[in-house]
Amino acid sequence: MLRADGAGEPTRRAALEVRALTKTFGGVTALDGVSLSVERGECHALVGENGAGKSTLGKVLAGIHRPDRGIVFIDGQMQAFNSPADAARAGVGMVHQEPVFCRDLSVAENLCLGRYPRRLGLFYSRRGARVRAEALLARIGAQLDVGQPMRRLATAQEQLVQIAAAIGTGARVLVFDEPTSSLSETESQRLFALIGSLRGRGVTSIYISHRLPEIFQLADRISVLRDGRLVGTVARAQASEAELVQMMIGRPLAEYFPQHLAAAPGRPLLEVENLSSPGRFSGVSLQVRAGEIVGLAGLVGAGRSEIARAIFGLDRRASGSLRVDGRALRLGSVRRALRSGVGLVPEDRQRQGLVLMMSGRANFSLVILDQLRRLLFLDQRRERRTAEDFFSRLNVKATSIEAPVASLSGGNQQKVVLAKWLACRLKVLIVDEPTRGVDVGAKAAIHALIDELARAGLGILLISSELPELLNLSTRILVLRAGRLAGELPRPAATQENLLRLMAGV
Ligand SMILES: Nc1ncnc2c1ncn2[C@@H]1O[C@H](COP(=O)(O)OP(=O)(O)OP(=O)(O)O)[C@@H](O)[C@H]1O
Ligand SMILES: [Mg+2]
Repeated sequence: MLRADGAGEPTRRAALEVRALTKTFGGVTALDGVSLSVERGECHALVGENGAGKSTLGKVLAGIHRPDRGIVFIDGQMQAFNSPADAARAGVGMVHQEPVFCRDLSVAENLCLGRYPRRLGLFYSRRGARVRAEALLARIGAQLDVGQPMRRLATAQEQLVQIAAAIGTGARVLVFDEPTSSLSETESQRLFALIGSLRGRGVTSIYISHRLPEIFQLADRISVLRDGRLVGTVARAQASEAELVQMMIGRPLAEYFPQHLAAAPGRPLLEVENLSSPGRFSGVSLQVRAGEIVGLAGLVGAGRSEIARAIFGLDRRASGSLRVDGRALRLGSVRRALRSGVGLVPEDRQRQGLVLMMSGRANFSLVILDQLRRLLFLDQRRERRTAEDFFSRLNVKATSIEAPVASLSGGNQQKVVLAKWLACRLKVLIVDEPTRGVDVGAKAAIHALIDELARAGLGILLISSELPELLNLSTRILVLRAGRLAGELPRPAATQENLLRLMAGV
């Protein structure tokens, strides 16, 4: 094991080396003397709690942030990047989680931005651009209709375009920041195969993720960051999940067992009958009783989030009948849904749930819809106390609850939105991918909170792509396939294998 202080001699084969990197934002130290060396062709994972400094390190390597102190070497050459273009020239590219391309330009135009092929040295050549874009994609074994606008692409395809663009400009080091967080299992496996084949061509990957299983599948070595410091680097072969978690959070993580399961479910809080939406799902009937956590499983595209949105009044084409706590709820209005006590924590929290320039506290109690006001606390002291309580329970890493949310790390932003909804005390809460992007400690805290809400008598509909999460928390699991309910597994029958079989329909 290489310890944090062992900056040592430069490795001759190192594709990438950083020494004593320090980066602060205002009063926050995001990186604190990090030294690390990565070999050519290595897949090097970066793990750590939300706010540990992973993205900041990635962004320093990709020329997005300038370090306050410290040095970056690429292929043994000292670098001082002033921009992503500098980093690209030195052979470093970053695959971002957020879209980085112009949504309305075509794939070909995006891939040729700044280097658009010309005809007779003068006119833009559309055909030339297509040919070049197709060639760039072919280099990573991808095929896409390059004439279509970027916004039509699914996340996985957009990622391919980012990788093709980076490889096209000669990247030999690629930084992946939580690349699988919105990919399906199949798409993730395809990405891993691509990373493997790039490795065969000598491309080095820095791989940031909270998902330990995929890190064990991919990485050669794993570095753990905590509070901006490098805790240590371990070879995958010698690492165990428990050890990594301990390094990340500085203590062993207690096993968590849900308690809501002990209580018998109460009266039906949500009754859905024959819910349909053209092209999305059809004939869905389900019930959630007080104290129940009903899991909703299915492959990406099976219609889980669409059903959630329809119940919450966001789907104007939905038909069917809904009852909340015995009273009919007409579809098609968020206002009515909230008023009758139904809440939805959406999947895409960063885009749908936060005002980035406002403080955590203001976001926390943000009253987007006046119906929410009654459910939230108006009393400022109480608001502050509740916000502080949730911040500490979920271990939100922020200088204070007054810090603007934009300055929080990705995972910490997620926690703020989630906390806001969890504090709302509704009757029925639909949570869509509640732990995506949050670290191990927060994940356990979120599970405990969901469990606590169920025990307090809420009905919870839980959508998750993580099977262990569904299996651990749910009272029973409904399986959705191609927009229809394909079956239900009561807790005792719910095993990973049974679930997968139902999801895939074999
Ligand atoms: N632009 C910024 N302005 C102010 N503070 C920032 C900025 N970017 C990052 N920080 C702070 O730096 C620290 C490290 O953030 P970073 O985004 O690197 O964390 P991370 O390890 O990627 O976390 P996550 O798992 O949540 O994505 C955090 O405390 C964060 O609040
Ligand atoms: Mg991050």
